[in-house]
Amino acid sequence: MDATRETRIEVELGDRSYPVIVGSGLLAQAGALSRGFAATGGRKVALVTDSHVAPLHADTVRMSLGEAGYEVDSIVVPAGEASKSMDQVTRVCRELHRAGLDRGSFVAALGGGVIGDLAGFCAAIFNRGIPFVQLPTTVVSLVDSSVGGKTGVNLPEGKNLLGAFHQPAGVIGDVATLATLPPRAYREGFAEIIKHGAIRDRSMLGNLGTFRDSLHGIDALILRNVAIKARIVKEDERETNGTRALLNFGHTIGHGIESAAGGALLHGEAISLGIKAALGLSVAKAGLPRADAELVIDLLRAFDLPLSLDARFSADRILEKLARDKKFVDGAIRFVLLRGLGDAFVSSDVTREEIAREVSRLFPG
Ligand code: GLY
Repeated sequence: MDATRETRIEVELGDRSYPVIVGSGLLAQAGALSRGFAATGGRKVALVTDSHVAPLHADTVRMSLGEAGYEVDSIVVPAGEASKSMDQVTRVCRELHRAGLDRGSFVAALGGGVIGDLAGFCAAIFNRGIPFVQLPTTVVSLVDSSVGGKTGVNLPEGKNLLGAFHQPAGVIGDVATLATLPPRAYREGFAEIIKHGAIRDRSMLGNLGTFRDSLHGIDALILRNVAIKARIVKEDERETNGTRALLNFGHTIGHGIESAAGGALLHGEAISLGIKAALGLSVAKAGLPRADAELVIDLLRAFDLPLSLDARFSADRILEKLARDKKFVDGAIRFVLLRGLGDAFVSSDVTREEIAREVSRLFPG
């Protein structure tokens, strides 16, 4: 990891454009960097974080925001996917009100995808929308969820069923935070990186394995992924023309598995299984060479990501959860397939029976 490098990528969305800044040690500059973002010129900030991240990084961010002249209130929610709930939305929004935030204030979301999605959603609806800044601290949130403005929470019926598009004012990606991640949480993030390679950047897949046990060069890898995400979001901010839907590769079946697993699998672990199933469908229906599918599966394996399910899980329950996915339109699924690595497309030609067959293949024996 390069201790001095700081690089920016602009997410180009007209008057909603914003920078993604990636480097090492950036949390200590969060206040000054936030001052440089449009729409964060006010005085009050709510720092929303979780019970795992707060003891590691909240003081650094609070101090930096204070040095930049902000008045900071902290809101700590329990770590974990269960916090992506309307109960937490109500709680956080009431805290924002109690702290006196208004449209001149902003929310700082410090943590992984759960915090970015929850705090971003609260910022989207509080006072009909106030600015927010993303401070991602996991691989998943650095390369994917902090960029692009998707915010929201889950319902018991399924993931991300409530939400809003609300672009951040800026993203401050401090790769030094990755050193504090538990190994399982670090490795799950590579499911999203492997997904980006599979849909848009075949050559990135070549040397990913080196990052399994080393953060050397991780800032460049994160930037390469942010660039992929930023380009896709620029082309299709609101997922209306099919381009942004490509980011759902592995996520249709993956989200069904994640919902059915009820917390037993991390997001990236469920997506690994969803990617394996989507590769199977791509070989069968889109001509993806089997060797290409195997290359991706070998990479998922290299990051210890799961490729099969055991008797704790039920195919019926996965299919039931999957059928409620918002990627179904008028009862038909828009499923992302690969013709080749780096060559993805949305198919409306994948049947429920074919999906059920791939899900059953995840159960060996
Ligand atoms: N994580 C998928 C998207 O942002 O569209």
